[in-house]
Amino acid sequence: MVVPDSQDNMFYPPLDLQQKAHVQDFETYLELYKKSIENPDAFWKEVAAEFFWKKPATGPTLRYNFDLTKGSVFVKCLEGAKTNVCHNVLDRHVNEGNLGEKVAYYWEGNSPDQHAEITYSHLLSRVCGCANVLKKLGVKKGDRVSIYLPMVPELVYSMLACARVGAVHSVVFAGFSSESLCERITDAQSSVLITADGVYRGEKLINLKQIVDEALARCRERGCSSVTKCLVVKHPALRTKTGASCHKLQTPWDRSRDLWWDEAMRDSPDQCEPEWMDSEDPLFILYTSGSTGKPKGVVHTVAGYLLYTYLTFKYVFDHHPGDVFWCTADIGWITGHSYITYGPLANGATSVLFEGVPTYPHVGRFWEIIQKYKVSKFYTAPTAIRLLMKYGREPLQKFDLSSLRVLGSVGEPINPEAWLWYHSVVGQSRCPVVDTFWQTETGGHVLTPLPAATPLKPGSATFPFFGVEPSVLNEHGEELQGEAEGYLVFRRPWPGIMRTLHKNQEGFENTYFRKFPGFYVTGDGCRRDKDGYYWITGRIDDMLNVSGHLLSTSEVEGALTQHPGVAEAAVVGRPHQVKGECLHCFVSLKGNTEFTLGLVQELKTLVREKIGPIATPDFIQNAPALPKTRSGKILRRVLRQIARNDRDLGDLSTLADPKVVELLFNQRNEA
Ligand code: WTA
Repeated sequence: MVVPDSQDNMFYPPLDLQQKAHVQDFETYLELYKKSIENPDAFWKEVAAEFFWKKPATGPTLRYNFDLTKGSVFVKCLEGAKTNVCHNVLDRHVNEGNLGEKVAYYWEGNSPDQHAEITYSHLLSRVCGCANVLKKLGVKKGDRVSIYLPMVPELVYSMLACARVGAVHSVVFAGFSSESLCERITDAQSSVLITADGVYRGEKLINLKQIVDEALARCRERGCSSVTKCLVVKHPALRTKTGASCHKLQTPWDRSRDLWWDEAMRDSPDQCEPEWMDSEDPLFILYTSGSTGKPKGVVHTVAGYLLYTYLTFKYVFDHHPGDVFWCTADIGWITGHSYITYGPLANGATSVLFEGVPTYPHVGRFWEIIQKYKVSKFYTAPTAIRLLMKYGREPLQKFDLSSLRVLGSVGEPINPEAWLWYHSVVGQSRCPVVDTFWQTETGGHVLTPLPAATPLKPGSATFPFFGVEPSVLNEHGEELQGEAEGYLVFRRPWPGIMRTLHKNQEGFENTYFRKFPGFYVTGDGCRRDKDGYYWITGRIDDMLNVSGHLLSTSEVEGALTQHPGVAEAAVVGRPHQVKGECLHCFVSLKGNTEFTLGLVQELKTLVREKIGPIATPDFIQNAPALPKTRSGKILRRVLRQIARNDRDLGDLSTLADPKVVELLFNQRNEA
């Protein structure tokens, strides 16, 4: 890496941002980066010194094996140390930092008349209250607690309460179906489930407790009755000011299992001694789509995750005490875990916690919130940017966005057009755009600009974060130098990388370390340009990125083939203006089934029910046959071209029956 020459298509950090930034220029970034790679121990020990350790580490900051040929893969950070994440992100600020009165979250509900301010001391007392409830329900260190909540403050309370008592939280995005929830509860064997009665998403009222009861019934049918208690938050939007309910939901109730959150919290003491955890004890499990179709339970541990989310938040958003940070993700995804809950709190930051959607009650909702709370650092996804771009400048012009200093992007490659709009219209050409590449598995940003240091190229995630050493490999596992395109891998761990898959070390090793021994394989392709900038080119496995959410094609195929009329299904991605990618499904029907509009609707509903609304296919195409090799393997490459209506098909010589391709092109328009 060298300091890139001045070029027309580059965007340089604004001077006023540089003056008080943590990393003020590219040379400083390079120096710090060099230190983090050459002397990681010294680098991370300085970071660790910011935190409270009940017992200091006896081992090095990082001990690991990435090479499967030399034995099992492992990563250990600060071995021997004892600490508690909740203590570090709350008590430390309230007791030592005098931040008790500082706002931790501005909660903004789905509807603009619903909002609340939560200070650090209030947060601490609610978390302790919840921790005591969990203890009373019998939750002990190491037990799993599933959390299926919308973006209400109780979601953060629950996560931190788990961290406080040493329980492992498994947050399940509240847009997932009962089937997906059941699958995640069964794998985690959670003993407690925390949910809400319902939630409004835009204008739609969703009966969450109903979904939960369906999920738990399914779990029981499959022999999993681990959940013995279900704690239910009364959503404030479903109540009048006096607490009376003002909705038409029927909340199903099992008296032996269910209890209301507010009743349980009423007499719960608001102090609770933290459980002192080993640095490598698990902090949480978060499920992410796997290319086999079964979600993978990514495990993150106490010390490394704390250090890494703390540091990435501080540097990537150049955090300073007066900032108001807003990450629009849902906490059900890793982005929310790392940059709504843990990273900001570890820094004693003030964040916006937003429950709603970008277009309700109007398309200027994001801009209204930025103005209302004077948001200075704003972090969202390309899909949201593309959606809002469609409405033009007008909705933004009604609001004062002059508080903004840094803009962030995450979840999928950002196309230059969206990048430029974000930069010039939202950021008024004043705010650097940090395009942060990372994954559930990486815990925090791994390729990312630093806003006051890195000259930006629209569409590039630029350079590695501290401690991260990327490499580009070809198909044979050879490392490519200089300008190159291939598999994006990492040759060593950083503190925040996942440790294993829940109860599945073998799956962990096979998925990430088997293909190229010695490297963590991201599953993404990338290009490195002549200046050393990294450009993510997208997934190279059977994964799709729909609106910034990873989906596995085989998971959707599995749902489609559950329909009695479907013999076989193949799902590929197809470009979509707002979602980035959408699903195009090829279905081969059984002899007596007809391809009708009704069937298409049934299939869409089936996928929604099995996985969740985010997985709803945009296109379902009748496929009397699928393009296969002689050994019967479906050629997805060809299906992808058909879905895109692109006849540049390349070599078709491996096809068993090339006529299939023309047939599918002809039927494409009916999809
Ligand atoms: C994609 C989300 C390009 C990528 C934090 C990755 C990105 C997957 C970017 C992880 C980015 C995320 N540029 N692609 N800035 N950020 N991705 O686990 O394909 O939900 O592997 O984590 O999203 O998705 P996940």
